[in-house]
Amino acid sequence: MCGIIGYTGKDEAAGIMLDALELLEYRGYDSAGIALLSEGEIQILKTAGRVGDLRRLCSGEKPEGRCGIGHTRWATHGGVCGANAHPHRFGRVTLIHNGIIENYKELKEKYGLDGLLQSETDSEVVAAVLEHFYSGDPYSAIRRTVLKLKGTFALAVLFDDQPDCIFAVRNVSPIVAAVTDNGAFLASDVAAIAPYTADYFVVPEFHVVCLGPGNAELFDLSGDRAVIDWLSVDWDVSRSGKEGYPFYMEKEIMEQPEVIGETIFPRIKEGKPDFSEEGIPDEILSACQRICVIACGTAMHAGLVGKSLIQAIIGIHVDVVMASEFMYNDPVVDKDTLVIAISQSGETIDTLEALKFARKCGSPCISIVNVKGASIARASEYVIYTNAGPEIAVASTKAYTTQLAVLYLLTARMAMARKLWSEQELAGYMCELQRVPAVLKQVLETKEEIHRLAGSILNASDVFMIGRGLDYSILLEGSLKLKEVSYIHSEAYASGELKHGTIALITEDTPVIAVVTQEKLKSKELSNIREVQSRGARVVLLIKEGETLDGGEQWSCVYRLPKMDDFFMVMPASIVLQLIAYFVSLDKGLDVDKPRNLAKVVTVE
Ligand code: F6R
Repeated sequence: MCGIIGYTGKDEAAGIMLDALELLEYRGYDSAGIALLSEGEIQILKTAGRVGDLRRLCSGEKPEGRCGIGHTRWATHGGVCGANAHPHRFGRVTLIHNGIIENYKELKEKYGLDGLLQSETDSEVVAAVLEHFYSGDPYSAIRRTVLKLKGTFALAVLFDDQPDCIFAVRNVSPIVAAVTDNGAFLASDVAAIAPYTADYFVVPEFHVVCLGPGNAELFDLSGDRAVIDWLSVDWDVSRSGKEGYPFYMEKEIMEQPEVIGETIFPRIKEGKPDFSEEGIPDEILSACQRICVIACGTAMHAGLVGKSLIQAIIGIHVDVVMASEFMYNDPVVDKDTLVIAISQSGETIDTLEALKFARKCGSPCISIVNVKGASIARASEYVIYTNAGPEIAVASTKAYTTQLAVLYLLTARMAMARKLWSEQELAGYMCELQRVPAVLKQVLETKEEIHRLAGSILNASDVFMIGRGLDYSILLEGSLKLKEVSYIHSEAYASGELKHGTIALITEDTPVIAVVTQEKLKSKELSNIREVQSRGARVVLLIKEGETLDGGEQWSCVYRLPKMDDFFMVMPASIVLQLIAYFVSLDKGLDVDKPRNLAKVVTVE
C-alpha cells in the first residue's frame, strides 16, 4: 500500500514523479506529495486528495529540481489530511514511507519527540530518528535507525547535504530500482518505471540502495557492497494504458481471453500440462496427502474453485485458509501438506507471512503470482506466474481468471502425476481448457446484453447471490466485486443454506443473482431459486444455454452461458459477474478503478 517514487538525473523530477504517481495511484489515493532537493534546499508540495490535486498544486508552484521523492498514500496512522501526507521533514531529513512502524510510540518517547512533530504519522517519527543519528554519514544513520524499527517499511530518504542522492531501505514493503541514461529511479513497483526502462532490480530486505544521477549502489546493513540482481520486465508495457476504454477495469475484463491464453498455452506440451519451465517435480504433486491454499480476497476465491476441482478430481483434502487468519488458528501444515499461495501482487503481507511459516514447517510450497520477482514469488520454493500483465484497476478481474487457469493446469498435472486419468480423459480435459479463451470471447461479445442485466440491480441497496458447489465459489467472488466497485451491499450465499435463517431478508425489493451451471446440482438449485421467487425476489439467472426452465414469466432476466464441461463453467460465469459489477459502478458514475477506502497492494496486516 502507498506508492513510492524517486528520481535523480538530468531531467526535471517533478513531471516524472507526477506521471509515476499516477501509475502508482492504485496503491492508495488518500493524499499525495513530492519533495525536491536542489542546491541544498528542499521544496515539499503535498495535499490531501489525489495525484490530480497534487498536479494542480504543482502547476501553480512550478517546483524545480532534478532529484526528488514522491508518495501516494493509503492512510494507516493518522487521518486523511495535508499534514499527514508524505513527504515528512525533520531537521535535515526528508522522507516518504510505506508500511507500519509498530513501535512508533516507544520511539517517540525514547527520542523525546512529543510536541516536535507536525503530523500524527508513524513515518514522521522515523524521519526524526534518522535526524537524531545523522552526522553526515547517511549509511550509518540509516543502519542505526533501521535497527530500532519494528514493523514493515519501505523508506526513501533525502538528506539536505547529500546533493542528487536518494537513499532507500526496506523490510517487507517493496522497492524496485532502475538506472537509465537519463537518471536513476526507485519505485514501489515496476509499473511506475516501466515507461523508462525494462531493466530493474528488487532492493533486497535490509539493504540500503543509494541512487545517484546515473547509478545505483547497493550495500548491506553492515556497509558491505552487495551484488545487484538485475531483472527484466517481461510484460508488454503498452498494456499499461487504457487503450480507449473509460476504465482499466473494463479493459482488463476484455483482455481475459488473451491473457488466459498466454497463461495456459506455453504450459501445454504435446497436449499435456507441463511445469518443467517452473521446475516443479511431479513428486511434490503426487506425494502430498493434503493441500492448503493460502490467499486473501479474490485470490482466496480462486483457491475455493481450486479446492472443488482438486477434491473432485484428485480426491484429496484441500483447505482454503484466509491468509490473515492462518497464523492465528494454530495452523497444521507439515511436509505432507502441499501449500499453494495465491497472490496477484505477490506482496500481500498476510499471504507472505503464512507462506514463510509453512516453509518453516517443511511444507513444499508453490506460489501463483502475477507480478514477476514479487516477495511471495521469491519466498516460495516454486513459482507459477500468471501472465495477466499489469492489473491496474483495484478490483481484480484478469488476475483471478488467470489464477483459475493455473489451477486447472495444476489439477491436470496432479492427476497425471498420480496416474488417475486415461490418455483419453486427460485429452478431453485439456481440450476443454484450451477452449476457454474462445468461449470467453463469445461472452464478451454480449457485453451490452450484460449491461442491460446490470440495470436490474442498479438501484438496489442489497443483493443476494445464490448457488451451490462451484457456483457458490464464483458467487463469493461476484459478490465481492459488486460490493467493492458499486458500494451495494451484497452477500453470496450457498443456496441450500439460505432457508436456515437468511431468507428472512429476502423481500420484493431484493434482487437475487443465481448461477446454475452444475448438472448434478441443477434441480436443487432451481428449487432454492423458487423459494426466493415465492418471497417476491426478482431473480437474475445465469444458466447454461439449452437448459429448459419452467414457470414462464418468472424468468424475466436470464443470461444463457455458452456450454462447457461443468468444471469449466466457472470461467464464462465469472466474466458475466465481473461485467455486472462493472456496469453497475459505471452507471452509478463511480470511480470504477479506485473504489473508496481500498488499495491494490495490501502490505499491512
Ligand atoms: C479484490 C481484490 C483483493 C485482492 C486481495 C489479495 O478485487 O483484488 O481482494 O485479491 O487483496 O491481493 P493479492 O492477490 O495481491 O494477494
